[in-house]
Amino acid sequence: MVSAQGTGALALFHGVILVTALIDSDDVITRDEQIYVLIGAHAKCERSIQAHMSSVKEADCIPEWDGIICWPRSRAGRLVGVLCPEYIYDFNHRGRAYRQCDAAGSWEQVPSINRTWANYTECTTYLSSNHRSQEEKVFERLHLMYTVGYSISLASLLVAVSILCYFK
Ligand SMILES: *[C@@H]1O[C@H](CO)[C@@H](O)[C@H](O)[C@H]1NC(C)=O
Ligand SMILES: *[C@@H]1O[C@H](CO)[C@@H](O)[C@H](O)[C@H]1NC(C)=O
Repeated sequence: MVSAQGTGALALFHGVILVTALIDSDDVITRDEQIYVLIGAHAKCERSIQAHMSSVKEADCIPEWDGIICWPRSRAGRLVGVLCPEYIYDFNHRGRAYRQCDAAGSWEQVPSINRTWANYTECTTYLSSNHRSQEEKVFERLHLMYTVGYSISLASLLVAVSILCYFK
């Protein structure tokens, strides 16, 4: 007889296979490859931030990961440009993304949505004709990859744990 745990593990396992199949469906770099590259970039960024935190002065804008780019610390009042990262396959890697560090040493916000302002226009401009909607698509996909990426890790973990419990 199959226990409830076993059935649960099986269902989860099918879920993981299904999600993986969906991700693999298009493009030169597969979405799961992009997810893992992004997760790697995030980890590297966090390590770099840890290593450099002591050199951040009080009047500086703090270094931070925004989900795509690892922003360095900045002196107050500077416009910071960072090359559009190679690890985002869809970006124009010759362009730069920008953030403004204001006079008070905080990253400039977009007041209406209370989020840090950043200009990613150059990263997506080579995307030709109707690039406005293309741009939205790129970000939508990145968001999707994040969400799916994390659910996959969680699901895999749950599967592993369930199987362990089942065979114990
Ligand atoms: C937006 O920022 C203001 C000022 O810092 C703050 O008082 C408010 O709670 C924020 N709103 C949201 C939705 O985070
Ligand atoms: C964003 O960057 C592009 C290209 O550098 C520039 O043309 C545009 O004016 C910038 N947008 C804003 C709102 O600063």
